[in-house]
Amino acid sequence: MSEAESVLSVSGLTLDLVGGHAPQPRLVHDVTFDVPSGGAVALIGESGCGKTMTAMAVLGLLPKGVRAVAGGVLLDGRDLLRCKERELAAVRGRTIGTIFQEPMSSLDPTMTVGDQIAESRRLHLGERRGAARARARELLDRVGIPDAARRLRAYPHELSGGMQQRVMIAAAIACDPRLVIADEPTTALDVTIQAEILGLLRDLQRESGMAVLLVTHDLGVVAEFCEDVVVMYAGHVVERAAVTEVFGTARHPYTRALLRSVPTGRAPRTRLDVIPGRVPPAGAFPSGCRFRPRCEYAADACATTEPAESQEAGHATRCLRVAAGEIELQEAR
Ligand SMILES: Nc1ncnc2c1ncn2[C@@H]1O[C@H](COP(=O)(O)OP(=O)(O)OP(=O)(O)O)[C@@H](O)[C@H]1O
Ligand SMILES: [Mg+2]
Repeated sequence: MSEAESVLSVSGLTLDLVGGHAPQPRLVHDVTFDVPSGGAVALIGESGCGKTMTAMAVLGLLPKGVRAVAGGVLLDGRDLLRCKERELAAVRGRTIGTIFQEPMSSLDPTMTVGDQIAESRRLHLGERRGAARARARELLDRVGIPDAARRLRAYPHELSGGMQQRVMIAAAIACDPRLVIADEPTTALDVTIQAEILGLLRDLQRESGMAVLLVTHDLGVVAEFCEDVVVMYAGHVVERAAVTEVFGTARHPYTRALLRSVPTGRAPRTRLDVIPGRVPPAGAFPSGCRFRPRCEYAADACATTEPAESQEAGHATRCLRVAAGEIELQEAR
């Protein structure tokens, strides 16, 4: 990972389901990663690995019944896990912008898009009405919405999916956040619009110096957009390193399997769904290494010992056999 100062530093984050009947499943365990200031970090892994839950913990938006029981989430050095809801509300939309998969889940259907963006600037920055509206227009213009002056008065449902996504990006960057968390921001869009939206996000990032944490299933997007990658499996981070490292010499057997699942000779814009078997649900993780039942490298010790994270030259891996030097790195891909 880069040495640059971190805007976000997640360490040992552990999330439990609480309140129901025992035993309480642990959803996310000991998740650690950094987002360097101005950098782009991908959070990848198959469905159900804990990517969204991790993002929600950063935002202080965990679903009912899910609680952070250990760890820290430092935003510019301030631990968000120890902040009151009022303080978190001041961070969301101001220091951290969010882009989710479904625009309609974040946009207010009862407000015009112009009012939504202007409101955010008035609320967080104390900007006056006229100035906030003028800025909202500039933002719509910047995210590529034609005839922005007129679109300011449109309601979200009057816009296409791609346009709604652009509005959500405009709202996310409205207060010049330090960090944008984008959880599968383009999955619901068709391929050409996906590429446009990601291109836009990258341009905005370069212009403004904001950092991006991008949750995605798409390795092509990771390669094009991000400098660092964090791979999650069954609530654990199993590998994290620079993208060039991971695509060059992936270490964890899970990451290797993910990379192999992308057909060669084709644009790697493929979903990660071809490793045999499936991610175990929370509460039913196997003993030892959670990937063991699907792992081609599994040894006896992997059934009994839960691997800790080991680091070598900024490349972190959670695998007993990698830590013991028993897996040939050159084999990757
Ligand atoms: N509201 C909830 N309450 C309790 N558990 C949940 C809730 N939502 C998800 N989970 C569980 O938490 C675990 C992590 O889910 P999460 O949504 O973070 O996965 P994900 O990596 O984002 O998957 P996807 O790629 O499908 O979006 C899963 O075991 C899931 O079943
Ligand atoms: Mg998710």
